[in-house]
Amino acid sequence: MIVCHCQNITDREIDAAISWMRASDPDVVITAGKVYRALGKAPDCGGCLPLFLTTLRTNPSFPVPAMDSPGAHARLSGLRRAGSGPRTRPGKGTR
Ligand code: FES
Repeated sequence: MIVCHCQNITDREIDAAISWMRASDPDVVITAGKVYRALGKAPDCGGCLPLFLTTLRTNPSFPVPAMDSPGAHARLSGLRRAGSGPRTRPGKGTR
């Protein structure tokens, strides 16, 4: 089914982009903009966004896995070791 008529994007292409992004980074927050970029396209009129978002939200790989899901601890430990874990905002340092 075509979801975006301006860019000729199907629900299968959206599902494939979500699967690719989730496999590349299990913790990525998937947005419509990221899906467009992954497909090498950009929205034009925006008329498809309600259906586009529904297609995103109904994909089982769309949500970020819960912190208590298998492998979450290992992923978080890897982030902290790499120094890219959660940081405090500038000006909000610890005392
Ligand atoms: S239908 Fe998708 S941007 Fe126009």
